[in-house]
Amino acid sequence: MDLVRTYHERSKHHLERYAPGPDGLDWNSQPDPFRRYPGARLSQLPLLADELPVCWDELFDAVGVPPQALTVDNIAHLLQLSLGLSAWKSYGDNRWALRCNPSSGNLHPTEGYLICPDLPGLGAGVHHYRPDQHGLECRATAPFAWAGGVFVALTGIHWREAWKYGVRAFRYCQHDCGHALAAVSYAAAVMGWPARLLSGWGDDEIAALTGVNRADDFPIDETETPEALVWVGPGDPPTSGLALASLGAAPWFGFANTLSSKRRDWPDIPAVAAATHKPSGIAGLLANREPLPALFQASSVPVSRLIRARRSAQAFDKITTLAAHRFYRMLDALLPRNCQPPWSLLDEKPCVHPIVFVHRVDGLEAGIYCLPRSPAALSELHAAMRPDWLWQRIPDCPAHLPLYLLAPLDVRAFAATASCHQDIAADSVFMLAMLARFDDISPTRPWLYRQRFWEAGMLGQVLYLEAEASGLQGTGIGCYFDDVVHSVLGLNTERFQDLYHFTVGKAVIDTRLGSEAAYAHLERGR
Ligand SMILES: Cc1cc2nc3c(=O)[nH]c(=O)nc-3n(C[C@H](O)[C@H](O)[C@H](O)COP(=O)(O)O)c2cc1C
Repeated sequence: MDLVRTYHERSKHHLERYAPGPDGLDWNSQPDPFRRYPGARLSQLPLLADELPVCWDELFDAVGVPPQALTVDNIAHLLQLSLGLSAWKSYGDNRWALRCNPSSGNLHPTEGYLICPDLPGLGAGVHHYRPDQHGLECRATAPFAWAGGVFVALTGIHWREAWKYGVRAFRYCQHDCGHALAAVSYAAAVMGWPARLLSGWGDDEIAALTGVNRADDFPIDETETPEALVWVGPGDPPTSGLALASLGAAPWFGFANTLSSKRRDWPDIPAVAAATHKPSGIAGLLANREPLPALFQASSVPVSRLIRARRSAQAFDKITTLAAHRFYRMLDALLPRNCQPPWSLLDEKPCVHPIVFVHRVDGLEAGIYCLPRSPAALSELHAAMRPDWLWQRIPDCPAHLPLYLLAPLDVRAFAATASCHQDIAADSVFMLAMLARFDDISPTRPWLYRQRFWEAGMLGQVLYLEAEASGLQGTGIGCYFDDVVHSVLGLNTERFQDLYHFTVGKAVIDTRLGSEAAYAHLERGR
């Protein structure tokens, strides 16, 4: 635990100094954003020909989206809408890909693997997803014989983030994993498939299932770290023992590409990764969730279009306001509902609670608000913050939405300052800081440290898509001054810490950037 706390303190940005990072960017050693396994056979997957006929509101409808067959075509849609490319951008000689899942600095540490039984058109085994090719590289063939679902496993390449962000990179890798988990959950929901986090699997088991424990298949110092395992489909997953036994004698193919010509070590990162290692057999502690009223309707736009059009705003127009009922809907989507993506994925009670800095919501005073996402958190947050906050209910707010005014105030300047002086935190409609419970990250469950970032990332992904559904845009903000926020809130940092910021508003589009369709390069060649 000392290692976890030490890492957390060392990776904080402060007004007077940033967390240790590289002094400048060494462009020669920039890691390749695309992992490849030369020697493994690549099967290209069909691209979406059109938008899928499921609109945003249907995802939250009690009737539910009709489950599609578990075919390769449908699995291809799942992967494209979660981890696939969404566009290419260019400026001058620079060209870079964007993906459906966002990533701090667009560095994309998260890799995806599909582990499936025999399907017409795809053999049973372990496959690595190639977002640039929208294809699957067959890493291992194995006699997996289950039915009713597939595994989607996520791994992380810490160096991709550390190259730019140094010590703080481990946090960003976990945020990105949370965004990717939510992205998988939404994409599965579009296909009518349940998705759940298999938190009972240990890190070593996920490493064995994905093959990232096969050190000889990776260049020295370029291994991947197991992150999370999701079961997608209507059936029940095989046990880890059964799945790994089938993999026992499997032949493996390919050798991972070299990502960087050289790398700089950041010893804090392997230290915190080891300290937060998760053993097997310890699942989440899902408490009963209170039933909540259905979300009111927000958009009839196809989900596949919203997902692919999602973009991080780099600047906001400073004038757009949001109707209060739309604001409430966005916050409502952050409350955990059992059958609603992405919260159906999680088997933990909510432990991350937004402090909302409201700038431009019609009919709502500008100021600091709190949204405890569980009834228990209300009293805990109350006790952990300044005693003079108002904790006032909002007259027109839906009764089930636990939104409280702490202080009416123009918080634009503070929001920007606290978010590493980024104007996007002030020029938006609202910005929020996510307070995560810290006092239960104990020596017996240190991996909860990682999972708190995942939950924060999932909140971020909800807001990204909710914003798009309301005609707005969002941006994740990983750069913020942790203790500046803590001190203004008068927060007991033994109990809670600020783990992530997010801002929502009307984006100003940078017209200097060129844009190309995500898979134009493939369609030209096909
Ligand atoms: C965890 C995380 C932290 C981020 N932090 C910042 C930030 O501090 N400032 C910023 O302008 N953008 C930030 N972003 C946005 C990324 O730069 C953006 O996701 C990336 O460039 C890819 O673009 P896209 O989201 O449009 O696909 C963050 C995104 C994530 C997921």
